[in-house]
Amino acid sequence: MKLLSLPPVAGPFVQSLRSIGYSMESAVADLIDNSISARAGSVEIFTEWRNADPVLAIIDDGYGMTPTEVQKAMQLGTIGPDNERSENDLGRFGMGLKTASFSQCKKLTLISRADSNDDWYGIRWDLDLVERENQWLAQIIKPAECELYLKDVGFEYSKGTAVIWNTFDRALDLTAASAERAYDRRVSALVDHLALTFHRFIRGREGTKKLTLRLNKRLIKGMDPFATRPETSRQASTLLSDETLRLGHCSIKIKAYLLPHPSSMTHSFAQRVSLNGEHHAGQGLYIYRAGRLISSGSWYRLARASEANKLARVQVDFDNNADHLWRIDVRKSRVDLPASLREQLRRVIIQCSKKSSTTFTRRAKMPSLDIEPVWQRVYDRDKEQVHYVLNRSHSALAVMLQSITCGQTRSALVSIIETALPLALIKNDVSATNIKLDQDSEDLFGQGQKLAESLFKAGIDLEIIFNALVHDSNIGLTREQAEKIINKIEVR
Ligand SMILES: Nc1ncnc2c1ncn2[C@@H]1O[C@H](COP(=O)(O)OP(=O)(O)OP(=O)(O)O)[C@@H](O)[C@H]1O
Ligand SMILES: [Mg+2]
Repeated sequence: MKLLSLPPVAGPFVQSLRSIGYSMESAVADLIDNSISARAGSVEIFTEWRNADPVLAIIDDGYGMTPTEVQKAMQLGTIGPDNERSENDLGRFGMGLKTASFSQCKKLTLISRADSNDDWYGIRWDLDLVERENQWLAQIIKPAECELYLKDVGFEYSKGTAVIWNTFDRALDLTAASAERAYDRRVSALVDHLALTFHRFIRGREGTKKLTLRLNKRLIKGMDPFATRPETSRQASTLLSDETLRLGHCSIKIKAYLLPHPSSMTHSFAQRVSLNGEHHAGQGLYIYRAGRLISSGSWYRLARASEANKLARVQVDFDNNADHLWRIDVRKSRVDLPASLREQLRRVIIQCSKKSSTTFTRRAKMPSLDIEPVWQRVYDRDKEQVHYVLNRSHSALAVMLQSITCGQTRSALVSIIETALPLALIKNDVSATNIKLDQDSEDLFGQGQKLAESLFKAGIDLEIIFNALVHDSNIGLTREQAEKIINKIEVR
């Protein structure tokens, strides 16, 4: 059989490579992974707006690279996923530096040296040049020029690595009037993301260097979602279980935590352990690969994001030798739960949610963490009974109830809904493992959209709709998601 060599065509291929789907936060995190793998003790992020031509650099004092290593690092396909990796290496695919950077910008510059007596060596990918020439042509940066670049982004180490991004064309529309503010918001979201993703390195992990992470010289403090170092003992979380499971040759560590009730936390501490400023959004599995957070805030369909699970957070740890079981992707921002682990995790979660709901039911009338729940759970301590009532002061509900002019019809409607709540059926469906509740779907954004549409048609104010989307315990969208939905309605 005759063989034909069909290498990728540079111009179109590089365009497709840019669309792997990184957010700015996950792209920067991918580069910090490289610095940590290179045993950096300090990583500095430098960014400046520069009149709508922003620059962002990730600078580390790690072991750096020789010129040959810089070339290899910048070339696509030089390292495959099957290459043996050391235990603390956060890489896998040999792609992250390029794919993460190209997803955000058109000019990627890598400058490094492994020995302070050597010259700096730099290589740049300029994607316009690659497209124009339709060839993988990279630019070599002379040592003197490297020094200018390093000075420009505030590099002060004697050796190490700088990754510099210029010509951002993907992160946001730089020509928009509010682009600078939007960029600032992205940068502050970036700080939050890094504080959570690398919190175990910032605190100092066994076998790795303690990481000092700064953005524009400001220290990024770690965000520990398990509140294991509280300000006072009342704010301490409880470790409910700590077990190690084996999957083939790989071990998975699972630690289940119950956070203290928010009323025993100071406001600032509660904020610090909240995800996106919302306490209940923090419930779920926190999956770490070699100590680095990959995914957070989801129960992976093993449980629902509910009032009962609000205080439960489960830490799941796997090593980089188990990547095939978790099917991690290049972005390292999602995993598939190994099927054989689901039942064991479900057991841990059930145990956790039982404790979590007891913490709540100790209160006579449960003060909801949602600002505006539609349903309120009322616990009668004497009878040891729970019942659910409609929250008549819920802003959207109140507007609709008020539109019913006859008071008796209003009360009748409320009581028919409250008494007809099919609790027994819901109980059956929840305990039947093969049935999924529609309201429990992961397409919360879609549900939010439907809800917003119908409230809007009913004449409810957009601000009230926005609050309902953000504060409802079933929907619980982020402010950005709710804004998207509202903007869509507003445009029409
Ligand atoms: N900051 C750095 N310091 C030292 N070496 C680095 C640095 N960044 C990248 N490298 C080298 O370049 C190589 C390629 O990096 P890249 O991020 O593209 O892939 P990877 O980290 O090997 O795998 P992944 O695609 O999973 O991130 C790394 O394996 C490492 O050898
Ligand atoms: Mg990498």
